Amino acid sequence: MTGRYELHCHLDGSVRPDTIAALAAEQGLDLPAPARQLAVAPAGVGSLHAFLPYIDVALDVLQTPQALHRAAAELVADWQADRVVYGEVRFAPQLHTRAGMSLDDAIDAVAAGLAHGTAATGVRTGLLLCCLRHQQPGVSLEVADAAVRRRDVVAGLDLAGDERHPGTPHREAFDLAHGAGLPVTVHAGEAAGPASVWEALDVLGARRIGHGVRSTGDAALLDRLRRDQIALETCPGCNVLTAAVPAMAAHPADRLLRAGLRITVSTDTRTTAGTTLDAEFAALAATFGWTEAEERLCQDNAARAAFA
Ligand code: ADE
Ligand code: ZN
Repeated sequence: MTGRYELHCHLDGSVRPDTIAALAAEQGLDLPAPARQLAVAPAGVGSLHAFLPYIDVALDVLQTPQALHRAAAELVADWQADRVVYGEVRFAPQLHTRAGMSLDDAIDAVAAGLAHGTAATGVRTGLLLCCLRHQQPGVSLEVADAAVRRRDVVAGLDLAGDERHPGTPHREAFDLAHGAGLPVTVHAGEAAGPASVWEALDVLGARRIGHGVRSTGDAALLDRLRRDQIALETCPGCNVLTAAVPAMAAHPADRLLRAGLRITVSTDTRTTAGTTLDAEFAALAATFGWTEAEERLCQDNAARAAFA
């Protein structure tokens, strides 16, 4: 087995619970329960909007450059342990300004942590910035501007968050990225249906789709995704947790891979979704009989779709 590629991984949802606890202690922050209980979504969480608040405890402790640096460097070490040779991590710098960091301070801290991790492990990395659906379009524009300005360390732009909010209001931010040649991925077809994926493609110009697992009922959409070789960054364990799919056996990764779509497999959030790529591919093997051949197809798809 050669190395793995992970394209869809959120930094704030992938901080080790022990690190959340250690950072809280260092910062004099009293956690109301053990970090693992606060940061890992339980099996019955059942929706994206109920899943997302489990990321908040990590955000509480990731308000200093030192904390962001540590989280990023540890993620790279965790990737190495999971046989990842290239990982793209994404985060929303605008959520890390509560204690005075600027967007650029947050980006610098994560980039330095990733560089440290790469120097220690040889794992190559890319950094994406996330706009958030529930925020004002002006905030997204600032994030896109930072992404374009910091192209030295930023490989792409994303739209994340609660999919009950439409993507169209954020169009100007994504136009800014396109104007600068910065590639774009959009979370869509996770909590909402095919119309949200069409919006990601036609309004926001997404070259990859985060999850996209609810695209299946729309034959024209599947044709479009296949024709344009749009990678679907599926995260099967997370998709089951958030009830984007009702059960692993109903996950479309197997069907769509066989139909020639550019399916990739990621964790989304290693801590919040409580998973690794090892666990994801083991689940796909147990459910669909995947062997090394299917994993290899997914890794080739991911290599082709990488932004950095
Ligand atoms: N942020 C972290 N995980 C996410 C997900 N699965 N969907 C949207 N935003 C997210
Ligand atoms: Zn995600």
